[in-house]
Amino acid sequence: MQARTDKLESTTPPGWAPDSWQRKPAAQQPTYPDPAALERVLAQLRKLPPLVSSWEIENLKSQLAGAAAGQRFLLQGGDCSESFAECESSAIASKLKILLQMSLVLVQGGKKRVIRIGRFAGQYAKPRSAETETREGKTLPCYRGDMINHAEFTPEARTPDPELLLRAYERSGLTINFIRALIEGGFADLHHPEYWELGFVANSPHAAEYTRMVETIGDSLRFIETLSGGVLADINRVDFFTSHEGLHLLYEQAQTRQVPHRTGWYNLSTHFPWIGERTRALDGAHVEYFRGIANPIGVKIGPAVTPAEAVALAEVLNPRNEPGRLTFIHRFGAGRVEQCLPPIVEAIRRAGKQVLWCCDPMHGNTETTRHGIKTRRFDNILRELETSFHILRDCGAHLGGVHFELTGENVTECIGGASGVTEADLSRAYRSQLDPRLNYEQAMEMALLLARLMAQKPR
Ligand code: PEP
Ligand code: CO
Repeated sequence: MQARTDKLESTTPPGWAPDSWQRKPAAQQPTYPDPAALERVLAQLRKLPPLVSSWEIENLKSQLAGAAAGQRFLLQGGDCSESFAECESSAIASKLKILLQMSLVLVQGGKKRVIRIGRFAGQYAKPRSAETETREGKTLPCYRGDMINHAEFTPEARTPDPELLLRAYERSGLTINFIRALIEGGFADLHHPEYWELGFVANSPHAAEYTRMVETIGDSLRFIETLSGGVLADINRVDFFTSHEGLHLLYEQAQTRQVPHRTGWYNLSTHFPWIGERTRALDGAHVEYFRGIANPIGVKIGPAVTPAEAVALAEVLNPRNEPGRLTFIHRFGAGRVEQCLPPIVEAIRRAGKQVLWCCDPMHGNTETTRHGIKTRRFDNILRELETSFHILRDCGAHLGGVHFELTGENVTECIGGASGVTEADLSRAYRSQLDPRLNYEQAMEMALLLARLMAQKPR
């Protein structure tokens, strides 16, 4: 017993426990009208089997360490927020497909293995800028994601309901089960390029480039198999990891467990939880919770973060300076990245901190049209990516990953791209309840342009 305690002390930071965050101010938490009902739900959540394993989590951490060292590249993407209504086979399969196709393109361009992390199987809680929403003189609590309340504008729908935590956990389990089954069944098998077809974007100006790429991969595969005299069976074994914003701390705590033969505490609801821009206060509950879990974690870094704060976050969240443990997901906006990113990279470099730099070119580039529709421009997204790529290279670091809000469907939420989605098109197929996502074609185009950038020789 004593030996176990000694071992635990080596990886769990002093003073930390799965509930130690409860002594700190916790932003963005819902208030439930019936605390006893909430406690009953949490007791069930504590009992249910985990969604992921500590082996997978440790495997991801070592792959992310590879990305921090420049040997791999991280592609993280998915919906701004998952919805219960879209927990269905075609939406899940098309999300998987777009991420796999983008990763194939990035492997070609970057000549590095790509780590795929979906914003799925748990992305059901959202931070909001205001507590309440007013429509036609009526004020109600705002919608906080399907895990917490409903989007409809009625007092009943907007009241937080703890049962939704269980529904979210179950849907996360259903989603990850289907993803595992698709991958296990050969969905990503490069011997079958027909699985990799472009579907409705076949007529896009970039389709020929993509098709050529898939054919080249097929040819290379056959060439290597001829040389080696066998089938490369492992080629269809791609890894896929899950992530969500670790926002609802009682939910996250209920999944925080110890596992046999390992020290430390794991959040077993997801491989890679991240802290959002609105909840990364150094003295706040989220940073307290995240500092003690053993998962690799991300932190969103926006324009308000000072270089000193970034170093302090790295110190608190990665005290052992473990490679792969901490990813900074920076989201400054195309107009501000040039001013904000270099001093932070420089401060982290001087402090000798291990950080993986991952650009989220979505959240700093959100705007609202004259008609009150939230959108993002393809050109701004691309510009922030390109600028980040060059800044990091010029500072002696490197861009190790990208983070997109995207969907495998033909929505019209972001403006621009080769297919020319205009402001007038936005109302045609706008399906996101929150932030605008790149559609299938825009996401593929973004991957092709990023791949070209990665293939360029240093300036
Ligand atoms: C998000 O990722 O959907 C989000 C809310 O981002 P941020 O915390 O960076 O604003
Ligand atoms: Co978002």
